[in-house]
Amino acid sequence: MRRPRIAKPALRDIFDRHEGRLIHKVDHYFPIYERHFERFRGTAPTILEIGVAQGGSVEMWHAYFGRGTTTVGLDIEPRSATLARPGRRSHVVIGDQGDPDVLRRIAAEHGPFDIILDDGSHRAEHQLILLDTLWDELTEDGVLLVEDLHTDYWPNYGGGHLRPGTFIERIKPLLDDINAFNSREDSFQPTRWTSTLTGIHVYDSVVVLERGKHQPFTTSMAGRPSFDTVNGLPVSEAISDEHQARMAEMNTPARRIRRAVLNPGLVVDGVRRRVQRHG
Ligand SMILES: C[S@@+](CC[C@H](N)C(=O)[O-])C[C@H]1O[C@@H](n2cnc3c(N)ncnc32)[C@H](O)[C@@H]1O
Repeated sequence: MRRPRIAKPALRDIFDRHEGRLIHKVDHYFPIYERHFERFRGTAPTILEIGVAQGGSVEMWHAYFGRGTTTVGLDIEPRSATLARPGRRSHVVIGDQGDPDVLRRIAAEHGPFDIILDDGSHRAEHQLILLDTLWDELTEDGVLLVEDLHTDYWPNYGGGHLRPGTFIERIKPLLDDINAFNSREDSFQPTRWTSTLTGIHVYDSVVVLERGKHQPFTTSMAGRPSFDTVNGLPVSEAISDEHQARMAEMNTPARRIRRAVLNPGLVVDGVRRRVQRHG
C-alpha cells in the first residue's frame, strides 16, 4: 500500500522546534535558504559550511536535507573538532578559511559540494578567497551562499559604502560577466564567470551565486501570430519553417474546434480581428 505523502517541515519550523546544539541565525535568512536550498532536499547533498560554532546549524542542515546528507564544517576554533560525527556524515575540519590551501584540501577530501555556505569570519578578504578557490568545487548546479555581508559596510571589518575590496564590490562586475555573451564590443568578452554562473541573487546581508552551464541564449516560439508581420518581418521570414509546419497542424479543423470549445473568447477575438482587417 502506498504511504500518504507527508509534507516536509519548513526550515523555520525545524529551527523553531530545535532542541539540539545552539544555532544563531538572522531571521530573514530563512526564506532565502528555503528559496535556494529547497531543491536539494532528499537528494543526499554534500554541504560545506564555513563556521561551525556550537554545531547547531550542522544539525539543522541534516534535519532539513534529510537522509544521506553530508555536512563538512570548517572552523578555526579547535573545540569544534569534537562536534564531528563522521559515522553520521558530519565532518569538521579545523583551519583558517583565509588560507587557500586549507580550502583546497577540504575540496580534495570532501568535494564537490552542492552547497557552500560561508558563515565564518565574515571578513571580505576571506570571502573573496573562498569565491576564487571554491567556485569550481561546486557541483554543476551547485549554490554558493555568503551571509552576514552587513560587515561589508562596517569599518571594523574593513568595510564601507563602495569600498574597494569588499565582497559586495566584487559581485557587482559579475552582473556584466553574466551578460557577456550579449556583448557587441571587443573590449567586453565572456569570462569564466559567463560560462559557469547562471544566477546572482542579492539580499540584505546575503549574496547567492548559482552555478550552472551557461551558454548564449536561444529562443523558441509557440502559438500562432496575431498579425501578418512579426518583429517587422512577414510571417514567412520571421518564423522558422519548423514552426510554420507546426502552425499548419494547429489550423486543422479538429484543432480549431477544440480551441473554440476550450476558449470561446479566442473565437470572438479572431472574428473581431478579421472584421477590422477587412473593414
Ligand atoms: C557565526 S559563527 C557560525 C555559526 C554557525 N554556522 C551557526 O549557525 O550556528 C562563526 C564561526 O566562524 C568561525 N571562524 C571565525 N574566523 C574563522 C576563520 N578565519 N576560519 C574558519 N572559521 C572561522 C568562528 O570560530 C565561529 O565559530
